[in-house]
Amino acid sequence: MIKFIAVDELLAIRNEVLREGKLAPDECIFPSDSLPGAFHLGYYAGDELACIASFHPQGYGEFTGAGYQLRGMATVEAYRGKGYGNQLLNFAIVYLRGQKANYLWCNARKKALQFYLNMGFEVISAEFEVPDIGPHYVLYVKIR
Ligand SMILES: CC(C)(COP(=O)(O)OP(=O)(O)OC[C@H]1O[C@@H](n2cnc3c(N)ncnc32)[C@H](O)[C@@H]1OP(=O)(O)O)[C@@H](O)C(=O)NCCC(=O)NCCS
Repeated sequence: MIKFIAVDELLAIRNEVLREGKLAPDECIFPSDSLPGAFHLGYYAGDELACIASFHPQGYGEFTGAGYQLRGMATVEAYRGKGYGNQLLNFAIVYLRGQKANYLWCNARKKALQFYLNMGFEVISAEFEVPDIGPHYVLYVKIR
Protein backbone atom coordinates (compact mmCIF):
# COMPACT_ATOMS: atom_id res chain seq x y z
CA MET A 1 0.00 0.00 0.00
CA ILE A 2 1.28 3.46 -0.91
CA LYS A 3 0.96 6.26 1.68
CA PHE A 4 1.97 9.87 2.09
CA ILE A 5 4.52 9.82 4.93
CA ALA A 6 6.46 12.28 7.09
CA VAL A 7 10.19 12.89 6.63
CA ASP A 8 11.13 11.30 9.96
CA GLU A 9 9.53 8.04 8.82
CA LEU A 10 11.86 7.69 5.85
CA LEU A 11 15.22 8.82 7.26
CA ALA A 12 16.32 5.36 8.39
CA ILE A 13 15.84 3.91 4.89
CA ARG A 14 17.44 6.93 3.23
CA ASN A 15 20.48 6.41 5.43
CA GLU A 16 20.64 2.64 5.02
CA VAL A 17 20.10 2.53 1.24
CA LEU A 18 21.52 5.82 -0.04
CA ARG A 19 24.25 6.65 2.53
CA GLU A 20 25.36 3.10 3.45
CA GLY A 21 24.12 3.65 7.00
CA LYS A 22 27.00 6.05 7.66
CA LEU A 23 25.02 9.09 8.81
CA ALA A 24 22.91 10.11 11.77
CA PRO A 25 19.21 10.31 10.85
CA ASP A 26 19.20 14.13 10.95
CA GLU A 27 22.09 14.27 8.49
CA CYS A 28 19.88 12.53 5.94
CA ILE A 29 17.43 15.43 5.82
CA PHE A 30 17.51 17.35 2.52
CA PRO A 31 16.86 21.12 2.70
CA SER A 32 14.18 20.52 0.05
CA ASP A 33 12.25 18.10 2.30
CA SER A 34 10.25 20.86 3.94
CA LEU A 35 9.76 23.24 1.01
CA PRO A 36 6.16 24.29 0.34
CA GLY A 37 4.61 21.65 -1.91
CA ALA A 38 7.12 18.95 -0.94
CA PHE A 39 5.72 15.48 -0.23
CA HIS A 40 7.03 12.04 0.61
CA LEU A 41 5.69 8.66 -0.38
CA GLY A 42 6.20 5.24 1.12
CA TYR A 43 5.32 1.77 -0.16
CA TYR A 44 4.35 -0.51 2.71
CA ALA A 45 4.77 -4.26 2.37
CA GLY A 46 2.38 -5.22 5.18
CA ASP A 47 3.50 -3.10 8.16
CA GLU A 48 7.01 -2.56 6.82
CA LEU A 49 8.12 0.49 4.93
CA ALA A 50 9.84 -0.99 1.87
CA CYS A 51 10.32 1.86 -0.59
CA ILE A 52 10.47 5.65 -0.33
CA ALA A 53 10.68 8.72 -2.55
CA SER A 54 10.50 12.49 -2.01
CA PHE A 55 9.27 15.23 -4.33
CA HIS A 56 9.33 19.03 -4.29
CA PRO A 57 8.47 21.81 -6.73
CA GLN A 58 11.66 22.70 -8.62
CA GLY A 59 12.16 23.57 -12.25
CA TYR A 60 15.10 22.37 -14.32
CA GLY A 61 17.03 24.29 -16.95
CA GLU A 62 15.03 25.68 -19.85
CA PHE A 63 11.92 23.56 -19.30
CA THR A 64 8.76 25.60 -18.98
CA GLY A 65 5.76 24.84 -16.79
CA ALA A 66 5.65 23.37 -13.31
CA GLY A 67 8.55 21.05 -12.62
CA TYR A 68 9.10 18.78 -9.64
CA GLN A 69 12.34 17.16 -8.53
CA LEU A 70 12.43 13.58 -7.31
CA ARG A 71 14.96 12.85 -4.58
CA GLY A 72 15.83 9.96 -2.30
CA MET A 73 14.30 7.11 -4.32
CA ALA A 74 15.19 3.94 -2.43
CA THR A 75 13.92 0.40 -1.91
CA VAL A 76 15.17 -1.68 1.02
CA GLU A 77 17.40 -4.39 -0.42
CA ALA A 78 15.18 -7.31 0.60
CA TYR A 79 12.25 -5.77 -1.31
CA ARG A 80 13.97 -4.86 -4.57
CA GLY A 81 12.85 -6.20 -7.93
CA LYS A 82 9.25 -6.64 -6.78
CA GLY A 83 7.92 -3.64 -8.68
CA TYR A 84 7.46 -1.47 -5.56
CA GLY A 85 9.67 1.33 -6.87
CA ASN A 86 7.82 1.27 -10.18
CA GLN A 87 4.41 1.44 -8.45
CA LEU A 88 5.52 4.23 -6.11
CA LEU A 89 6.79 6.37 -8.96
CA ASN A 90 3.71 5.72 -11.08
CA PHE A 91 1.53 6.79 -8.14
CA ALA A 92 3.60 9.99 -7.83
CA ILE A 93 3.26 10.77 -11.53
CA VAL A 94 -0.54 10.38 -11.43
CA TYR A 95 -0.72 12.48 -8.26
CA LEU A 96 1.51 15.17 -9.80
CA ARG A 97 -0.66 15.23 -12.93
CA GLY A 98 -3.54 16.09 -10.58
CA GLN A 99 -1.39 18.86 -9.08
CA LYS A 100 -0.99 20.26 -12.63
CA ALA A 101 2.71 19.47 -12.73
CA ASN A 102 4.22 19.42 -16.21
CA TYR A 103 7.33 17.35 -15.65
CA LEU A 104 9.43 15.45 -13.14
CA TRP A 105 13.21 15.28 -13.12
CA CYS A 106 15.98 13.81 -10.98
CA ASN A 107 19.69 13.34 -10.65
CA ALA A 108 19.88 9.58 -11.05
CA ARG A 109 22.65 7.19 -10.22
CA LYS A 110 24.03 5.44 -13.28
CA LYS A 111 23.41 2.05 -11.67
CA ALA A 112 19.68 2.87 -11.35
CA LEU A 113 19.41 4.20 -14.92
CA GLN A 114 17.51 1.20 -16.31
CA PHE A 115 14.89 1.50 -13.57
CA TYR A 116 14.11 5.07 -14.68
CA LEU A 117 14.25 4.27 -18.40
CA ASN A 118 11.68 1.52 -17.76
CA MET A 119 9.46 4.21 -16.22
CA GLY A 120 9.67 6.42 -19.32
CA PHE A 121 12.33 8.87 -18.16
CA GLU A 122 14.80 10.25 -20.73
CA VAL A 123 18.44 11.14 -20.18
CA ILE A 124 18.90 14.92 -20.59
CA SER A 125 22.50 15.45 -19.47
CA ALA A 126 25.97 14.15 -19.97
CA GLU A 127 27.24 11.78 -17.28
CA PHE A 128 28.52 13.65 -14.22
CA GLU A 129 30.16 12.63 -10.99
CA VAL A 130 28.68 13.22 -7.53
CA PRO A 131 31.57 13.11 -5.04
CA ASP A 132 31.55 9.99 -2.83
CA ILE A 133 28.48 8.60 -4.62
CA GLY A 134 29.46 8.06 -8.25
CA PRO A 135 28.32 8.68 -11.82
CA HIS A 136 24.91 10.27 -12.42
CA TYR A 137 22.65 11.58 -15.19
CA VAL A 138 19.84 14.11 -15.14
CA LEU A 139 16.62 12.34 -16.14
CA TYR A 140 13.30 13.85 -17.20
CA VAL A 141 9.77 12.61 -17.69
CA LYS A 142 6.92 14.66 -19.10
CA ILE A 143 3.75 14.56 -17.00
CA ARG A 144 1.32 16.74 -18.97
C1 LIG B 1 16.58 1.82 -8.00
C2 LIG B 1 15.60 1.23 -6.98
C3 LIG B 1 14.96 2.36 -6.21
C4 LIG B 1 14.55 0.44 -7.75
O1 LIG B 1 13.56 0.01 -6.80
P1 LIG B 1 12.79 -1.37 -6.94
O2 LIG B 1 11.67 -1.33 -5.96
O3 LIG B 1 13.75 -2.50 -6.86
O4 LIG B 1 12.24 -1.21 -8.42
P2 LIG B 1 11.32 -2.19 -9.23
O5 LIG B 1 11.18 -3.50 -8.54
O6 LIG B 1 10.09 -1.44 -9.55
O7 LIG B 1 12.17 -2.35 -10.52
C5 LIG B 1 13.51 -2.84 -10.41
C6 LIG B 1 13.76 -3.88 -11.43
O8 LIG B 1 12.95 -4.97 -11.17
C7 LIG B 1 12.13 -5.24 -12.31
N1 LIG B 1 10.80 -5.56 -11.86
C8 LIG B 1 9.72 -4.77 -11.87
N2 LIG B 1 8.65 -5.42 -11.41
C9 LIG B 1 9.08 -6.64 -11.06
C10 LIG B 1 8.44 -7.78 -10.47
N3 LIG B 1 7.13 -7.80 -10.20
N4 LIG B 1 9.18 -8.86 -10.19
C11 LIG B 1 10.50 -8.86 -10.47
N5 LIG B 1 11.14 -7.83 -11.04
C12 LIG B 1 10.44 -6.73 -11.32
C13 LIG B 1 12.11 -4.00 -13.10
O9 LIG B 1 11.92 -4.32 -14.48
C14 LIG B 1 13.43 -3.43 -12.82
O10 LIG B 1 14.36 -3.99 -13.68
P3 LIG B 1 15.71 -3.23 -14.08
O11 LIG B 1 16.77 -3.91 -13.28
O12 LIG B 1 15.83 -3.44 -15.53
O13 LIG B 1 15.56 -1.80 -13.66
C15 LIG B 1 16.32 0.24 -6.01
O14 LIG B 1 17.01 -0.70 -6.78
C16 LIG B 1 17.27 0.89 -5.03
O15 LIG B 1 16.86 1.39 -3.98
N6 LIG B 1 18.57 0.89 -5.35
C17 LIG B 1 19.60 1.42 -4.48
C18 LIG B 1 19.47 2.91 -4.27
C19 LIG B 1 19.42 3.67 -5.57
O16 LIG B 1 20.24 3.50 -6.46
N7 LIG B 1 18.40 4.55 -5.67
C20 LIG B 1 18.22 5.38 -6.84
C21 LIG B 1 18.99 6.62 -6.63
S1 LIG B 1 18.96 7.59 -8.13
